[in-house]
Amino acid sequence: MQFHKYDVVIVGAGGAGMRAAIESGQRTRTAVLTKLYPTRSHTGAAQGGMCAALANVEEDNWEWHTFDTIKGGDYLVDQDAAEIMAKEAIDAVLDLEKMGLPFNRTPEGKIDQRRFGGHTRDHGKAAVRRACYAADRTGHMILQTLYQNCVKHGTEFYNEFYVLDLVLTPDENGNPVASGVVAYELATGELHVFQAKSIVFATGGAGKIFKTTSNAHTLTGDGLGIIFRKGLPLEDMEFFQFHPTGLAGLGILISEAVRGEGGILRNADGERFMERYAPTIKDLAPRDIVARSMVQEVLQGRGCGPNKDYVVLDVTHIPEETLNAKLPDIMEFSRTYLGVDPVTEPVPVFPTCHYVMGGIPTNIHGEALRDNENVIPGLYAAGEVACVSVHGSNRLGTNSLLDINVFGRRAGIAAAEYALAHDFVELPENPTTIVEDQLSGLLSEHGDERVADIRTELQKTMDSHASVYRTEDTLKQALTDVQSLKDRYERITVSDKGKRYNTDVLEAIELGFLLELAEVLVVGALARKESRGGHAREDYPNRDDTNFMRHTMAYKQGSELASDIRLDYKPVTFTRYEPMERKY
Ligand code: FUM
Repeated sequence: MQFHKYDVVIVGAGGAGMRAAIESGQRTRTAVLTKLYPTRSHTGAAQGGMCAALANVEEDNWEWHTFDTIKGGDYLVDQDAAEIMAKEAIDAVLDLEKMGLPFNRTPEGKIDQRRFGGHTRDHGKAAVRRACYAADRTGHMILQTLYQNCVKHGTEFYNEFYVLDLVLTPDENGNPVASGVVAYELATGELHVFQAKSIVFATGGAGKIFKTTSNAHTLTGDGLGIIFRKGLPLEDMEFFQFHPTGLAGLGILISEAVRGEGGILRNADGERFMERYAPTIKDLAPRDIVARSMVQEVLQGRGCGPNKDYVVLDVTHIPEETLNAKLPDIMEFSRTYLGVDPVTEPVPVFPTCHYVMGGIPTNIHGEALRDNENVIPGLYAAGEVACVSVHGSNRLGTNSLLDINVFGRRAGIAAAEYALAHDFVELPENPTTIVEDQLSGLLSEHGDERVADIRTELQKTMDSHASVYRTEDTLKQALTDVQSLKDRYERITVSDKGKRYNTDVLEAIELGFLLELAEVLVVGALARKESRGGHAREDYPNRDDTNFMRHTMAYKQGSELASDIRLDYKPVTFTRYEPMERKY
C-alpha cells in the first residue's frame, strides 16, 4: 500500500473535476485521481453547446435563462441554484474563451450562439439562440482546454487510479468528516491511500444502467455507489434523462444542435409531429417532452422502418455546407454507424439514456449533504455525480456543460478554502480494509456467474421496464429482476486473477455499483406516483405538486449489497417562480 497526502483530492477528470482542479490547484496542493486518461473523460462526448445569456446574436438575459431552467426541470429545480448558474454562465463562458477554447464565431468575431431545446426568449415566446458552441464538439473542446490549463498550472494527475472507497472519520459527535480515499492503481493492482483535507467527487453519471445509452462504457456510477454504500443520501435518482435523438438501435448521440440548426423530427407519414405536442417551439421543446412524444408516435403506429420502432430526423432541407461546417461529427456518425447520409436521407432516431438528474446532494458551494440539513465537512461534489439541484426532473440541453463549469469552479474554490482553514483529520487505523475485503472476495470467488451476462440482463430489464415510460407493473418487474441479479452477483467469477490492468475485476466492481443504483432508481420511481420531467408514469400521467413537489432522498440501510433502501424527502427551494402548467 502506498500513502499520499494532499490538501485537496479531486476524484474524476472530466469537465467538473478539471474545472475544480484549476481553482483548487492554484490555492492548495491538489491531486486529481481518474480511472481514465483525463482527455478520455465523458465530457468529451458532449456535442452541441454550453449555454449563457450572452445576447451576442439576439436579445437575451440570465433571468430568462433561469426561468427556462426551472420550467424545463418541471419545477423540481432548486431556484436559488438555478439563478446562480444562469447568472454565472456568462463569466463561465468568458473564462473558457480566455483559457483558449475555440468557439465558433459570428461574422463580427463574437462567440456565436445557436438554439437548443427549452431555451426561450421572454418566458417561452420563441426559441432563443443561447448555446455557445464549437461545431458539434463543444464538450471535446472544453475537455481539451481544461486539461491544457491544468497542465499549465502544474496539476498533479494520477491517471488510471480507480477510487474504490471514501474514508470518513467520525467527529466528536460521531458525525462523518471526509479524511481520504482509497484508490486501486490499474497498472499494478496496488492500493493507494490519499489523505486529504477536502475531497471533491466529480465522477460523472451512471448511464450504463441502461442498454440504450449515449454514455461511454465507463459511466458506471462509481462515485454515486461509493457514497450510497457509506449510508449517505442520493437525491432524485429516479430522474434519468432520455435524449430524444440517439441513433436508432444504437443509442449513439445525435446532438440536439441538429434541431437547433433547423432539423425536423418526422413520423412514418412524413408529419412534423412535434407541432401537435409543442405548438410554439415544436422540435425544440425540452427533452422529456420530445422523448415522450416520439414514443407516443411509435406506440400509436406511426413509427418508421420495417418494425415501425423509430422516427426520423430530417435535415435534407439544410444546405450541405452548413451541415458540414456546424455538425461534422453527427454527419460522420450517421454515415458510419447507420450507413445513412443525412444530406439525402432522414436519420433514424429514438430516445437514448443520456443523463442522471439526481446525484449526491450538495448546497450551492458544492458541499455534500449527509441529510437535509447538514454537510459532511471536507466532502464536495460537482457535475453529473452531484445534485445541487439545477436540473430538477429534466435538464435542458447545454445546461450540463454549464453546470460542470459553474459548480466545478465553485466546488474547487470551496474545497481549497476549507483545506486552507483546517488541519488534516486522522485516518482510521486500517483505511484499506473495506477495499481489501472487496478485492479479495472478488478475486477468490469461483462462482458460476459471469459479469457480462448479469450486466446484459440488467440493461435489458431497465430498457424494457424503467425507461421513458414506466408503470407500477413494469417497475415492480424491474425491481424483481434487479434483486435477482444482485443475488446472482454474489456468485460471480472474475477469471483474471492477475494484478496488471485487471479490467475483469474493474468491470465486476462497476457492475456492483450499477446494480445498486438501478435498485435505487426503481425504488424511487415506484414511490413517485406522478409524472414529472424524466419520470413518466403511464398510471399517473399528471404532475402532482400536492404530494410530490419534493426531492427524493434515498439512503442505504445496513451494509450488505442486498439491503433495503430507505426513502426520505427534501423540500424544493423556491425563490420567485410559482409552478405553472408546462406548455411549449
Ligand atoms: O444534444 C447535445 O448536444 C447534448 C447536449 C447536452 O446534453 O447538454
